[in-house]
Amino acid sequence: MAAMTAAGRRALRRWALALAALAAAAAALDNGVARTPPMGWLHWERFLCGTDCAADPRRCVSEQLFMEMADAMASEGWKDAGYEYVCIDDCWMAPARDERGRLQPDPKRFPSGIRKLADHVHSKGLKLGVYSDVGNKTCAGFPGSYNHYELDAQTFASWGVDLLKFDGCNFGTLELLAEGYRNMSLALNKTGRSIVYSCEWPLYLRPVQQPNYTEIKQYCNHWRNFLDVSDSWSSIKSILDWTAIHQDSIVKIAGPGGWNDPDMLVIGNFGLSWNQAVTQMAMWAIMAAPLFMSNDLRDISPEAKWLLQNKEVIAINQDPLGKQGYRITKDNNFELWEKPLSGRAHAVAVLNRQEIGGPRNFTFSLTFLGNGLACNPTCSVRQVLPTSRDWGFHNWVSSLSVEVNPTGTVLLKVVAL
Ligand SMILES: *[C@@H]1O[C@H](CO)[C@@H](O)[C@H](O)[C@H]1NC(C)=O
Ligand SMILES: *[C@@H]1O[C@H](CO)[C@@H](O)[C@H](O)[C@H]1NC(C)=O
Ligand SMILES: *[C@@H]1O[C@H](CO)[C@@H](O)[C@H](O)[C@H]1NC(C)=O
Ligand SMILES: *[C@@H]1O[C@H](CO)[C@@H](O)[C@H](O)[C@H]1NC(C)=O
Ligand SMILES: *[C@@H]1O[C@H](CO)[C@@H](O)[C@H](O)[C@H]1NC(C)=O
Repeated sequence: MAAMTAAGRRALRRWALALAALAAAAAALDNGVARTPPMGWLHWERFLCGTDCAADPRRCVSEQLFMEMADAMASEGWKDAGYEYVCIDDCWMAPARDERGRLQPDPKRFPSGIRKLADHVHSKGLKLGVYSDVGNKTCAGFPGSYNHYELDAQTFASWGVDLLKFDGCNFGTLELLAEGYRNMSLALNKTGRSIVYSCEWPLYLRPVQQPNYTEIKQYCNHWRNFLDVSDSWSSIKSILDWTAIHQDSIVKIAGPGGWNDPDMLVIGNFGLSWNQAVTQMAMWAIMAAPLFMSNDLRDISPEAKWLLQNKEVIAINQDPLGKQGYRITKDNNFELWEKPLSGRAHAVAVLNRQEIGGPRNFTFSLTFLGNGLACNPTCSVRQVLPTSRDWGFHNWVSSLSVEVNPTGTVLLKVVAL
């Protein structure tokens, strides 16, 4: 390989670009949104189904919670970093539809109504997300959208909603599950409002049937494949393992308009160490994941804020090429991942999966990154996480040695010159 001619390298590059164009051919839902992975805040992991506002006024699922989160997003740099959607999850509804069959918010917890909440969120330059379910009931037992897809889509649009998370509990049969997700997508389109459509279709389908991602991408802007994230390192590990095991089928489908969703960022909560938080941020960037934080933006450490607002990491996640990264090797309890970026660049992550001892060095050759193109014939290397630092210029046959803490990740950006 080291003797490869310049012409050979150019041919290899042309071939890789042609392959990349082919892989990007799957058509995405054409609703004008989610051209890069959507970013925002979603209440579920941190606030769950708190409905008792008398007992816990600051943490119950109420209009106050979303207004305070929107205010923090606008004033504390989150919006400037790219976080845009303030999203409601399950448990916002009244137990029954209104006399005209429409969904309605719980009157005690959302006394001003969703339209007013949307107005407030929009006045901050942000967008509002709501939640419903494809079946007769949501996961927490509130009214589902089955048999009401068009009415609910119209209701959401009339309120000024910008994103719908559509859960899959109580889906009935596999046919109803698929028809429900398709019909809601068409109903949202018919409203004429661009509404990000967040699906859980493959998650509910998978136990019984291999999802058809070409089809799912025609109807959804992002889709959950795997279990809910929780506030723990074991949860983050299981999501990464699942993604790596299934990367041959899911990575190629991701692109502008349609994304695999590994679930919320839990950074800023209680369960992750600093190194594990760095790993979640780095790997969610590598996976081109929608970045929905679930934490309390009114009370978050400066370290978590620095990490979540890190512009270089977010730029890797939001890269306009829209390619999801993948694991290249797993060796001696290290994992090496890469994500192709625009401008002949690659993001490279080295994850130390060993959970005993101290920092360890991982040494790898630049020759094989990016199918031989990442550092061809030379490149600049910059470390983005856990701290930013320039690593200078390297050439095609160089090796890099990076020191990685247990359960931590070193994230690099390699630009071919
Ligand atoms: C509805 O679908 C059509 C055809 O795919 C598309 O051109 C249009 O932009 C969509 N409208 C909305 C609001 O999603
Ligand atoms: C919802 O309930 C109705 C009436 O019981 C039933 O016919 C229908 O199949 C249910 N739908 C789903 C998606 O479970
Ligand atoms: C989806 O829409 C089609 C066409 O309107 C309808 O025949 C079908 O019953 C709907 N399916 C569900 C689950 O609502
Ligand atoms: C998957 O869905 C696409 C688009 O609807 C369709 O063309 C294709 O035949 C489906 N593939 C399989 C294996 O069913
Ligand atoms: C890793 O390599 C660097 C540079 O070669 C060296 O300074 C450092 O001590 C090494 N760390 C470990 C944990 O071996």
